[in-house]
Amino acid sequence: MRVLVTGSQGRIGRYVQAQLEEAGHTVVGFDVTAGDDIRDPAAVRAAAEGCAGIIHMAAMLADPKDDPNDVMHVNLQGLWHVLTTAEALGIRRIVSFSSVNAMGIFIGESVPDFFPIDESHPCRPGRPYALSKYLGEEMCGLFSRRTGITTVCLRPPWVCFPESYERVCQRWAEKPESEWTPIWEYGAFCDVRDVAAAAVLGLTCADPGHARLLLCADDVMTSGPSSRELIAKIHPEVEWRGGEPYAQDPFRSLVDNSRAKAVLGWQPRYNWRDMN
Ligand SMILES: NC(=O)c1ccc[n+]([C@@H]2O[C@H](COP(=O)([O-])OP(=O)(O)OC[C@H]3O[C@@H](n4cnc5c(N)ncnc54)[C@H](O)[C@@H]3O)[C@@H](O)[C@H]2O)c1
Repeated sequence: MRVLVTGSQGRIGRYVQAQLEEAGHTVVGFDVTAGDDIRDPAAVRAAAEGCAGIIHMAAMLADPKDDPNDVMHVNLQGLWHVLTTAEALGIRRIVSFSSVNAMGIFIGESVPDFFPIDESHPCRPGRPYALSKYLGEEMCGLFSRRTGITTVCLRPPWVCFPESYERVCQRWAEKPESEWTPIWEYGAFCDVRDVAAAAVLGLTCADPGHARLLLCADDVMTSGPSSRELIAKIHPEVEWRGGEPYAQDPFRSLVDNSRAKAVLGWQPRYNWRDMN
């Protein structure tokens, strides 16, 4: 399949591009660092000619130094250009990178209502990046409803690179409280190679119409305590809805990845335990 990949020069984009090529797809890269701006609808359309799918990653991330107007502009208008281009050219499949931040309960925005966190948890984003990701998902959902174009929105948590594992462990060894201070991301992470695999599967999996999928590793990032011990220490007030699976596997992730597995036919290959 010929695939337009926006944000192709980014940290995740490079892995996505490599896995697409390994799977035999042809990649059309699109990134502002190569002179292609997602805010330019004509540029998006020209790049998408002849493509059968789009993986959309071009975005401004949650950097407090960024102007919120730019974040909204790039993230929302950029996605709009991707969606309208797909409709104009008859492209039926879009994989769009959202984020766990769409939920408004990560990076310290608010405390979750319950654990484990799954897609049924209410979304209440307030910060610009988080709001742009949530509104992007809504845009995709409504767009799929009207056009029948498939939109698969992926919600990764912190994306871990091969070189990050050792760095995190070193930081924890030097400063133990950095595991949960100033914020705790519920120990959720996803290896970039698993994120890229999910994106590639999103192009060819059975048609879900519109889907919002939490992506994460099967286990929790931890210096030692189990998932429930971490909750008891950091968020003892939050309702616990996990059950038997946590007795079977005390290090099971506090973010539920079962919907992504079912929809994409995906299985994360990288666990915290195996990598450390
Ligand atoms: N890295 C993470 O931990 C993480 C977690 C959750 C979601 N995400 C999402 O994954 C996607 C990729 O993130 P990443 O970590 O690779 O970030 P990144 O910043 O490395 O990559 C984003 C890419 O988008 C490009 N871009 C920015 N503005 C553009 C514009 N106007 N036109 C065209 N291209 C533009 C950048 O040049 C960059 O190459 C993003 O949508 C991000 O929100 C990332």
